[in-house]
Amino acid sequence: MKVILLPILLMILGVNLLAQKNNSYEKGRTLYYENGCANCHGTNAEGSGYYPKLANKKKNFLTKKLNNFKNGIATTQKQEIMFTFAKSLSKEDIKNIVSFLVHFKKDDSGQYDVQEDLLGVDF
Ligand code: HEC
Repeated sequence: MKVILLPILLMILGVNLLAQKNNSYEKGRTLYYENGCANCHGTNAEGSGYYPKLANKKKNFLTKKLNNFKNGIATTQKQEIMFTFAKSLSKEDIKNIVSFLVHFKKDDSGQYDVQEDLLGVDF
């Protein structure tokens, strides 16, 4: 009996963890677009010559950067642009946005026009 129960328990745990991860990704996705991050960093978080790419960067790096910006810490004047956008993010928001960016997958639905999604960039 125990032998049968164990895989079932593990499966339920696995599904739960997966759902949690997806939930965080979805929340982060909404936050990313609602907070205007896409206007500078791109619909696909791809960045441009001026704004850094964010998609699929390391979790610790992104978390550290966002927490620094939130706390008014920058190493260049250019980074200070981020203070305004990071200030209103809660710890939970940062966790979710980072989850979205770390696991970023391109939207292939054709729903979005990504040709002119970056401010001031000529394609
Ligand atoms: C007005 C344009 C603008 C908006 C909007 C914006 N950012 Fe930024 N972001 C920047 C600039 C400029 C930098 C600093 C680039 C540098 O260091 O050269 C930056 C840096 C970052 C970095 C550090 C990346 C790295 O590689 O150093 C992260 C993470 C980031 N932004 C996340 C976000 C998130 C999340 C949002 C939305 C809440 C957002 N940004 C909104 C312009 C913007």
